[in-house]
Amino acid sequence: MENMNAYISSLGHFVPQKRVSNDELSKTLDTNDEWIRSHTGIGNRHIASEEETTAYMGYQAAKEALNKRGLTAEDIDMILVATVTPDYHEMPSTACLIQDMLGNKSCAAVDIKAACTGFVYGLEMGKGLINNGTCSRILVIGTERLSRVLDWTNRNNCILFGDGAGAAVLEVNDDETRGVINSLLRAEGSGAGALSHPKGGTKDPFKEGDVVGKDHYLFMDGRRVYEFAVRANTVILKDLMEKNNLSVDDIDWIVPHQANRRIIEAAAKRDKIPIDKFYLNMEEFANTSGASIPLALSDMEEKGLLKRGQKILTVGFGAGLTYGGNYIIW
Ligand code: UT7
Repeated sequence: MENMNAYISSLGHFVPQKRVSNDELSKTLDTNDEWIRSHTGIGNRHIASEEETTAYMGYQAAKEALNKRGLTAEDIDMILVATVTPDYHEMPSTACLIQDMLGNKSCAAVDIKAACTGFVYGLEMGKGLINNGTCSRILVIGTERLSRVLDWTNRNNCILFGDGAGAAVLEVNDDETRGVINSLLRAEGSGAGALSHPKGGTKDPFKEGDVVGKDHYLFMDGRRVYEFAVRANTVILKDLMEKNNLSVDDIDWIVPHQANRRIIEAAAKRDKIPIDKFYLNMEEFANTSGASIPLALSDMEEKGLLKRGQKILTVGFGAGLTYGGNYIIW
């Protein structure tokens, strides 16, 4: 089989209208704008309303990406959804819900559980399915409603996250000079306990009479995740550049998972990469886990920052612990 290339032909995103600033948070939480900005680079986050479910936000982002490309839902062979905050606990998948919202009757639909690295995994998995001829057009979506799994009295982590969605149309392309060139996909399962949603799986299922407690919410060992994140960023960027014979000067943009500005700055310093090569929008959207990279890409496109031929690296890291990156020629 001819080795086809897959490229991102269109992007879309959706964020809830409700925008909550650090100052707003400090009204109900022992925190302040200065601490949050200086420790994370985050200034605001968007919070979903009752109607803005994970599937709904993913659907809106996907619809925008399809519309921009002049496609309908029937033009899609598969929907891959990166999310850690699915509408339903185990089933059905959020991808199936989005398929129905879009009005597609039969395409493949599946969720990817790789947390904040989910979109990075999704691009490479989608590319593989396009290369082997299974699909010719795939929606790769990241969508999250983290506000629903946070303990809003825990200042150690609730200040970090936001809701939103980003979507990419990944298409077959016989032009070898552009597309998702290759990726690094990795995991470190020994760190699984550092970032988790402890309650409600089959290991510790919900039982009749359960009272909502701390283990119903997202748990994060912030320091441990921080150290992992700096190491993961540093290694992925270095290895991706080496794998593709790229020097720092060859790179136009690095689009990292938008977790914390300090993580990115520390990795940039270690890899000797100027910080202005990184596209950062956590100031406005905070950490939207699986949605963060496609949301950043779509935000960049809207601002006219993405140009044909640019060399772009993505880098993701998160629960699992998973990490990875894509090398894309735009
Ligand atoms: O998607 C991937 C997931 N997550 C991440 O990437 C997060 C990785 N971790 C981090 O980004 C950082 O560890 C945090 C931002 C979560 C924490 O930053 P830190 O610099 O490691 O702070 P810390 O936890 O060491 O806390 C320092 C101090 C503590 O006070 P004491 O004990 O020194 O008096 C905290 O209680 O800051 C305090 N603190 C806060 N103060 C005001 C912690 N959170 C807050 C807050 N507002 N929101």
